[in-house]
Amino acid sequence: MAGGQQHWDDVYGARTEDALTWFEATPAVSLDLVRDHLQPGDAFIDIGAGASRLVDALLDEGFGPLAVLDLSGAALAVSRQRLGPRATTLHGSRRMSPRGSPTGATRSGATAQCSIS
Ligand SMILES: C[S@@+](CC[C@H](N)C(=O)[O-])C[C@H]1O[C@@H](n2cnc3c(N)ncnc32)[C@H](O)[C@@H]1O
Repeated sequence: MAGGQQHWDDVYGARTEDALTWFEATPAVSLDLVRDHLQPGDAFIDIGAGASRLVDALLDEGFGPLAVLDLSGAALAVSRQRLGPRATTLHGSRRMSPRGSPTGATRSGATAQCSIS
């Protein structure tokens, strides 16, 4: 994917989540793929998740623990704000779990700044 952290932070800082060209209120294709391959209760990690609402839908359907990784802290701040108490911050790496348990996900090198689940 083109662009570094500053680029993506600028993108997410310049407009609201629903004004992004790739915004989906319900990410139906991604959801169908997850349903086809995972069962509720299975762990899932969305890498390059941005501020996607996929995690919200997966939480609604009982998937998890979930982890959301992205280069942009600005994008993850949007998700963190939207998810509110559904996400619980863990550790300095900002790992979060809806059930208050460690996700097992870790930051991957220089790509992911933080994670939410
Ligand atoms: C086009 S957006 C799509 C976001 C999300 N998947 C969605 O459907 O709403 C691409 C995302 O990839 C992230 N990204 C780009 N390069 C990345 C990298 N090396 N590691 C992690 N995330 C990255 C960007 O910050 C951005 O949020």
